[in-house]
Amino acid sequence: MTREWTEADKVATVSLEGIHKRFGRTTALAGVDFSCRPGEVHSLLGENGSGKSTLVKILAGVLTPDQGRVTVGEDEITRFTPQVAKTHRIATVFQEVLVAPNCSITTNVLLGQHPWLRWRQPRRERHARAEHLLKRLTGVSLDPQTLVEDLSLMRRHQVAVARALAAEPDTLVLDESTAALDLDGRDRLFEEIRALADRGGIAVFISHRLDEVMEIADRVTVLRSGEVVDTLARDHYDMAELLELMSGPDVARAGL
Ligand SMILES: Nc1ncnc2c1ncn2[C@@H]1O[C@H](COP(=O)(O)OP(=O)(O)O)[C@@H](O)[C@H]1O
Ligand SMILES: [Mg+2]
Repeated sequence: MTREWTEADKVATVSLEGIHKRFGRTTALAGVDFSCRPGEVHSLLGENGSGKSTLVKILAGVLTPDQGRVTVGEDEITRFTPQVAKTHRIATVFQEVLVAPNCSITTNVLLGQHPWLRWRQPRRERHARAEHLLKRLTGVSLDPQTLVEDLSLMRRHQVAVARALAAEPDTLVLDESTAALDLDGRDRLFEEIRALADRGGIAVFISHRLDEVMEIADRVTVLRSGEVVDTLARDHYDMAELLELMSGPDVARAGL
């Protein structure tokens, strides 16, 4: 049931232009431009509170921007709903991972797929598919009938990522998805991210960890206080520069 990628399956550029978002008196995003090209891993980097998750939620259709344009290829998104994001083949793993704890691994991994698609497959095949997807991320075979509430925090995160992969997205958005992973889990997730970009998809990788961003990103957009400081391509930055962009020149100079 894996999707066949062909030339005709051209992935569209995802663009946000002039995005503003306020929560009461807090300005979370103040005129953000962020654009992702097919075939790239684009990192969104910034300190806590810089607006990364707000941008992610707009891409996922769970928040509506106060101002600005979001386009996927030629299509402008005007209604922000998870369903619209799904139609544009955008899958998101949120920072606060959403799982149904009292449901099985299989139900959680295949959750969100069209019921017809989900239930057309025999039970045994559904379990096998969920097990296989999760094994790619964990390296171990877990019983797919296990309840998610019996899994560790790391495994729950992996279930959430497996669910996003199950949607076979063009654009995969991962908000701090490595935070709960061990090194092996991170390496496996990086393999999935790289594979998606290599076949022409888009990976939006959000992290506040510079070393990870240095390792995986083709381009980095740095956010500070809800504004884009810069977007830079790999080989056009080093760690010290990214740190300075993230925290501002004074903090970086003081070595804080
Ligand atoms: N639902 C919300 N209600 C009020 N303030 C929010 C909400 N979501 C985010 N914020 C605020 O918006 C700013 C950006 O937050 P967020 O996008 O979560 O940043 P990041 O993911 O980079 O840590 C922060 O000041 C945060 O407190
Ligand atoms: Mg966040």
